[in-house]
Amino acid sequence: MSSRAALLRDTLEIALCDDRFPALFYDKLFAARPSLRPMFTRNSPGAQQKMFAQKLAAIVDSVDQPELLRAEARAIAKSHASYGIRPEMYGWVGEALIAALREAVGPGEWTAEAEAAWTEAYTAVAEAVLAEPPA
Ligand code: HEM
Repeated sequence: MSSRAALLRDTLEIALCDDRFPALFYDKLFAARPSLRPMFTRNSPGAQQKMFAQKLAAIVDSVDQPELLRAEARAIAKSHASYGIRPEMYGWVGEALIAALREAVGPGEWTAEAEAAWTEAYTAVAEAVLAEPPA
C-alpha cells in the first residue's frame, strides 16, 4: 500500500470514530445545496450512513488500483444515472465530504497532506465516473 493510500485509510479510520461524521457530511451538503435533499429519500438515515461509509471505502480502495477504480466507476455511473445526478453535483459532494472529514478528524491530525490526498482521490473517482458513457 502506498503512503498516500495509508494516509487515506488512517484518516478515514479516525473520522469514523466520530459518530457525528456521516451526519456532518449530509448536514454540510444540504446546508450548501438544499435542492439535493429530496434525492436522498429512498433509504432510511441508517441505510444512508452505511452507503456513505461504502462510498468512502470505494475511494480509499481505488487508490493505486486502476482496474478497481474503473469497475467501481462503471457501477457508480450506472446507479447514479438512475438517481438523476448531474455532473456539477460531483463538486458539491466533494466539498461537503472534505469539510466533514476535516471537522471529524480534527486539527491535530488533519494535515495539508491529508487534505491534498483526499481531494485528489475524490477527484480521480469523480472523473472516472464522469468518463463512463451514459447508461
Ligand atoms: C465519486 C463520487 C461518488 C461516489 C464514489 C459515490 C458512491 C455511492 C455509493 C457506493 C452508493 C451506494 C450504492 C449505490 O447506490 O450505487 C451511493 C448512493 C447514492 N449517491 Fe453517490 N457517489 C458519488 C457521488 C454522488 C453525487 C455527486 C451525488 C449527488 C447528489 C450522489 C448521490 C447519491 C444518492 C442519491 C445515492 C442513493 C441514496 C439513497 O438511495 O438513499 N452520489 N453513492
